[in-house]
Amino acid sequence: MGYQEVYESWKSDPEGFWMQQAEAIDWDQKPSKALFEVGDNLYEWFADGQTNTCWNAVDRHVEAGRGGQVAIIHDSPITGTLHKITYAELRNRVARLAGALRAKGIEKGDRVIIYMPMVPEALEAMLACARLGAIHSVVFGGFAANELAVRIDDAKPKAIIAASCGLEPGRVVHYKPLLDGAIDLSTHKPDFTVIFQREQEVAHLEEGRDYDWHGFQYGVEPADCVPVEGNHPAYILYTSGTTGAPKGVIRHTGGHLVALNWTMKNIYNVDPGDVFWAASDVGWVVGHSYICYAPLIHGNTTIVFEGKPVGTPDAGTFWRVISEHNVRSFFTAPTAFRAVKRDDPKGEFVGKYDISGLRAIYLAGERADPDTIEWAQKVTGKPIYDHWWQTETGWTIAGMPAGIEALPVKIGSPSVPMPGYDVQILDEAGHPMKPGELGAIAVKLPLPPGTLPTLWNAEDRFRKSYLSHFPGYYETGDAGMIDEDGYLYIMARTDDVINVAGHRLSTGGMEEVLASHPDVAECAVIGVTDELKGQLPMGFVCLTTGVNRPHDEITKECVKLVRDKIGPVAAFKLCAVVDRLPKTRSGKILRATMVKIADSEEFKMPATIDDPAILDEIKVALQGMGYAKA
Ligand code: COA
Ligand code: AMP
Repeated sequence: MGYQEVYESWKSDPEGFWMQQAEAIDWDQKPSKALFEVGDNLYEWFADGQTNTCWNAVDRHVEAGRGGQVAIIHDSPITGTLHKITYAELRNRVARLAGALRAKGIEKGDRVIIYMPMVPEALEAMLACARLGAIHSVVFGGFAANELAVRIDDAKPKAIIAASCGLEPGRVVHYKPLLDGAIDLSTHKPDFTVIFQREQEVAHLEEGRDYDWHGFQYGVEPADCVPVEGNHPAYILYTSGTTGAPKGVIRHTGGHLVALNWTMKNIYNVDPGDVFWAASDVGWVVGHSYICYAPLIHGNTTIVFEGKPVGTPDAGTFWRVISEHNVRSFFTAPTAFRAVKRDDPKGEFVGKYDISGLRAIYLAGERADPDTIEWAQKVTGKPIYDHWWQTETGWTIAGMPAGIEALPVKIGSPSVPMPGYDVQILDEAGHPMKPGELGAIAVKLPLPPGTLPTLWNAEDRFRKSYLSHFPGYYETGDAGMIDEDGYLYIMARTDDVINVAGHRLSTGGMEEVLASHPDVAECAVIGVTDELKGQLPMGFVCLTTGVNRPHDEITKECVKLVRDKIGPVAAFKLCAVVDRLPKTRSGKILRATMVKIADSEEFKMPATIDDPAILDEIKVALQGMGYAKA
């Protein structure tokens, strides 16, 4: 069957299509049907089945005689180490860890926060939670204590599993002090923490609250897999929205297993046993789906890479890893290739390695600019497939169904909708638009298995953020169009979310931090175009009357405040003091116009602008930061 037939087979019988895909999963009790309508536009998948994620990702491969196959390769150019874990070893390690967690009181439904760098223990912690039916929430290491505290207060974890430190090139990230700071800041306190001590930094453990990763597993009874309902949350992953409060995306167990398993062959075109590599971080959705769960569920070997595309030690690292481990399919963010291209424009490093085993490269996380795609194609000689998805969906909305049929690539488009997604372009009033017309990208409900059923503790916010604007649809927050051949084009976000080096950040969240500076009366944060990272945040602050301290002192404090409150990952380094912000007569800040000026693009003077002269002041401030050059 070709793509068109597969897509039509889903469309004509979604229930049959997903029940068939569910056959590839081991169930303790098979679901009686695929889709469950909860009512009022909420849906769940495989709700009455019983299964366990860890069983499907680990144990069943051992039972099937594949225990000797490598499950995880930890390749860390930062520490200069390489470590392989077979499926049998992984099962034993995870069962023991789960047993130790259970001995300390962790049970089905309890939340566990995981705050760890790119070490296999991060995946083991996720799988140990899944084994018990505990709900994990992984927090990215580049977030500050305050962001961790916000997540602790929302998820209310019984335990937190962390490492003593993370390693960034030339810098040790002191996880334990960040964790202690977060627990001090949070209202909810976990019962205990488990600390994986790394040799680069051994953290101080607080007697009675902090347990050593190895010590607390000593002599415990390994835990078996606990069957959970298909609609039991496998995890919560927080992502940025319009405001500073992150949204807790929930992933249900059954749909997650079925959908991710389907993607490995049909999108990434790998067979069980093949090596698959997603160069991301376990703190992001790409890391959840494609470093941890999907490759393991499908019986692949996954790579946990602790390094950067450049500088660890050079721009040949990607090709070295692909060649050394015989990677079949490789997934990264366009920004990583832009970094490699900057250091090695001619792709000379590629020639030093044998990457003949690699079949295709997949890009996601941000817009893939044509220059980067063309460069990657030229230097590797491999097909480059852009694909578009979100934390909310957990897997591809539109991409190349390479395992079904390699359709022609159209540069600038992440290709076509995957089965399960009825993608439509809508106008402001919610009417479908014609091919080639730009509008809001929406997906007709229900969303497919594996996507978010709602937000953690925030059903109203779920409805408001995704369901209420276009009744009957899920609003993606992206704008774009579909061409005559059914290829999708993603043009921009329709909200205040920006994308910095493939990381999703909220300008609203940064504005909340800036507004907390005692000298700041008013502020705006915009995302300006950046050659390497795609976008960079830029802040404008208006000072409280009477403040006459040097401006650069205040902007430095603002930069530090965002780093301390949100974290280094915000990459907030550009900030200017201005007298006034451009606004409409009703007081709305004209952020989109400011972005156009910063990027030296043509713009139409907004008809509702209150005082056009302010734009000249903004332009001067932008020029002072090296922008608005034209
Ligand atoms: N823990 C702690 N700090 C982290 C971190 C982590 N896991 N990840 C990043 N940071 C820090 C960086 O050290 C940097 O700090 P600095 O301001 O002191 O330099 C800051 O956060 C910004 O990081 P980043 O935006 O990633 O920039 P960079 O200059 O370190 O690296 C790239 C640039 C392009 C090499 C890097 O962004 C990259 O590899 N991107 C790949 C994108 C990706 O994997 N996206 C995931 C979604 S698919
Ligand atoms: P995240 O939830 O962090 O994965 O970010 C999701 C958002 O990143 C999407 O809503 C898009 O705005 C953007 N994005 C992800 N993949 C792509 C892509 N292939 N092309 C364009 N934008 C993308």
